[in-house]
Amino acid sequence: TITIYVAQENGERIALEAPTDMGLSVMEVLKANEYDIQALCGGMAICATCHVEVLESEALPEQSDDEAYMLESLPHATQQSRLSCQLRVNEELDGIVLRIMPEA
Ligand code: FES
Repeated sequence: TITIYVAQENGERIALEAPTDMGLSVMEVLKANEYDIQALCGGMAICATCHVEVLESEALPEQSDDEAYMLESLPHATQQSRLSCQLRVNEELDGIVLRIMPEA
């Protein structure tokens, strides 16, 4: 398992444990932990309601063209924006700190 930290409004960080051997996305881990994240398209990179901002990470996978295109269309996206459904839970993500964006 790896640890994913979710930064709260007050700056507190909640640690979530996520298994690396189930092919989960970060979006699915957030949902499983009862975060209110809509993920309307179910992980197809076409709704952006799983938008997160990555505050800290060791390494991140490259964005696919679909993800980059979707993020470009979001007016409030930042350099650190990612679609959490496109982040596969693996060792590389251990210790990642993210913030769930308001529309997610
Ligand atoms: Fe729709 Fe991620 S769940 S873009």
